[in-house]
Amino acid sequence: MKPAMIVHGGAGPWPDAEDSARGQALVDALHTGWRILEAGGTALEAVEKATNILEDFPLFDAGIGSFLNQMGEVEMDALIVDGAALDFGAVAGVKHVRYPISLARRIMTDTPHCFLAGSGADLLARQLGFPVMSNLFFVTEAEFHRFHEKQHAAPRPQGTGTVGAVALDTRGNLAAATSTGGVPDKMPGRVGDSPVFGAGGYADNRYGAASATGVGENILRVLLSKYAVDAIAGGMNARAAAAASIDHINSRFQDSQAGLIVVDRDGQVGAAHSTLKISIAWMDADGQPRVSMQGGVGVR
Ligand code: GLY
Repeated sequence: MKPAMIVHGGAGPWPDAEDSARGQALVDALHTGWRILEAGGTALEAVEKATNILEDFPLFDAGIGSFLNQMGEVEMDALIVDGAALDFGAVAGVKHVRYPISLARRIMTDTPHCFLAGSGADLLARQLGFPVMSNLFFVTEAEFHRFHEKQHAAPRPQGTGTVGAVALDTRGNLAAATSTGGVPDKMPGRVGDSPVFGAGGYADNRYGAASATGVGENILRVLLSKYAVDAIAGGMNARAAAAASIDHINSRFQDSQAGLIVVDRDGQVGAAHSTLKISIAWMDADGQPRVSMQGGVGVR
């Protein structure tokens, strides 16, 4: 079976001057995942390793570059979903793990649990020998300045840099990954959609897989990623399912500020958004990388 892959770096407004750097990071992530898929590796491995690249890229709100909470700290959430087993691993509120998505995968594979939060998750990372950093490691200069100037600054647009990846491997397995620093100025302890199974991501080999981005408080209420995969189960392809999911969230919230990427079991890819922009990269039918900052629902 021919593999398929699409990645995102968030939905929302951001300066056009950043488009090129964001696009290049997405292509780097896509190539990382694609090499794994082309070599016969699993969709799970591809989405994890692609997401690691995005977690390291400082313009995205995940890993390094995460938004700061009201205390000036980074708290990160991540979810990985294995569509073969309908299984997932998730972390919430981690402060020290270099690659939250990789810890989420190990929770799925190496523990009896699905979801660990806060200090327990950070402790497991240490026990597993993960790179464990000081919280300041994740704070970029730009986010540091934004935090200190927020009294005088205009309100920050929300949901502009969660990252995610969705893939289909040569054996027909689907996987999804989503990683985020949440929303800017969030209350300490706030958790959004990203680590929640069915909201921030979902995958089921029988139908498709999805990863969401945008304002978690809206996405959680409609379980956006599950909605997309249910739409595929109902007969839609990835493109139509992405559009239907955004229509659905828009029907419930005036300003839904959401986006998602989707792959169906036939290897079609789709993306849709209700924000000004969504940053995505995908492999087209000829195996060539394509990038868009405007999304659109038909990307293959
Ligand atoms: N979608 C990211 C968040 O709301 O935390």
